[in-house]
Amino acid sequence: MEPSARETRDQPVVPPYRTVLDDEVIAEFHRVADEILRRGVLTLGPETARFERLVAEMAGCTHAVAVTSGTAALDLLLRACGLRDREVLVPTNTNPATALAIIESGNHPKFYDGGLWAGADDLEKAASQSTAAVVIVHLGGFISPDIEKMAAWCAQRDIPLLEDAAHAHGAVSAGRAAGSFGRGAAFSFFPTKRVTTAEGGAVTTADAGLVERLRRLRNQGKGPDGPALERGGSYRLSEFAAALGSAQLGRLADTRQRLQRIFVRYDEALEGVSGLRAAETPPRQLTSGYKYVAIADDPATADAWREQLARHGIGTSGGVYHDLLHDDPRFAAFTEPGQGFPAAERFARSHVCLPAWPAMTDADVAQVIRALRDPEFGAADR
Ligand SMILES: Cc1ncc(COP(=O)(O)O)c(C=O)c1O
Repeated sequence: MEPSARETRDQPVVPPYRTVLDDEVIAEFHRVADEILRRGVLTLGPETARFERLVAEMAGCTHAVAVTSGTAALDLLLRACGLRDREVLVPTNTNPATALAIIESGNHPKFYDGGLWAGADDLEKAASQSTAAVVIVHLGGFISPDIEKMAAWCAQRDIPLLEDAAHAHGAVSAGRAAGSFGRGAAFSFFPTKRVTTAEGGAVTTADAGLVERLRRLRNQGKGPDGPALERGGSYRLSEFAAALGSAQLGRLADTRQRLQRIFVRYDEALEGVSGLRAAETPPRQLTSGYKYVAIADDPATADAWREQLARHGIGTSGGVYHDLLHDDPRFAAFTEPGQGFPAAERFARSHVCLPAWPAMTDADVAQVIRALRDPEFGAADR
């Protein structure tokens, strides 16, 4: 593929994402970091326990287990479910980390189709007799409107539904939070995520047995007292990282409101722009606000939209996703000849993510909107 304008120009004036921690978060972190240093408990201490309580609350779950990354969270979740050398369904439209975690856990991914979200039909088409688990991904923080049917599909086959909720902090569908739909869910706290611990992740679940196993797996197989019962790894989150996450979790609703104000301005602007529209939010849903997704009516124009935005210094690199896993050479061994992914391919070609982070100023948003309305970019150019 030709490098697009967004990849060849200098740093955009309005980047797709910028990590900006609020002054209150920084002040709380400094205060708690000082307490941690004086206490001398630097890992697996009270700050990790507090962070886990707040993560569980966000996900509408009874438990959370903090680990070193979102990838580790999904890897350990699969292992804790007892899955090994099994076929795990995963969307082709996701971050490579989702499939890498499946491979890391000793299982093999099988891809299913889907655009911004997938449905139960997509699972049915991809499944085989050997399918042993399903991973769904709340892309961009959107929860599939078919989520209950997908859960029922898994329940009928008696296989676990697992959520990759790396994008979905605080997303809610019909009163249920992302992280509470399956046997367990994996969150990421990477710097681009709605809550960050710099590096970090967590599993949420309502299953106390799973929690016990996850705690062992993250700590070299050791139980709370007593000997190591199985081979685990070193996946502990530090007390500092946990404190940084907790300082943001208490303010998540405020962060979401700030994003909502930005999203409403984009929605209004796009109503006056022909050829590009806001992705529909499923009914009775509050997305996490991880991405603002716009869709080009004609997929062939999406690159031109991104180039137009780039000419105005607007970064749009953070799609969800433009590169699909069934085309990724790392997963060549897991793709089946003849399996088509039309919904994923159409979505990959047609969407454009507008910059979205809570600290965007009015001027940043106005600049994006001006770029969308560029009078020099008429329909004839597309
Ligand atoms: C959908 C998805 N799953 C998993 C991950 C992995 O998270 P981490 O980078 O914390 O390992 C990411 C990271 O960006 C992601 O976007």
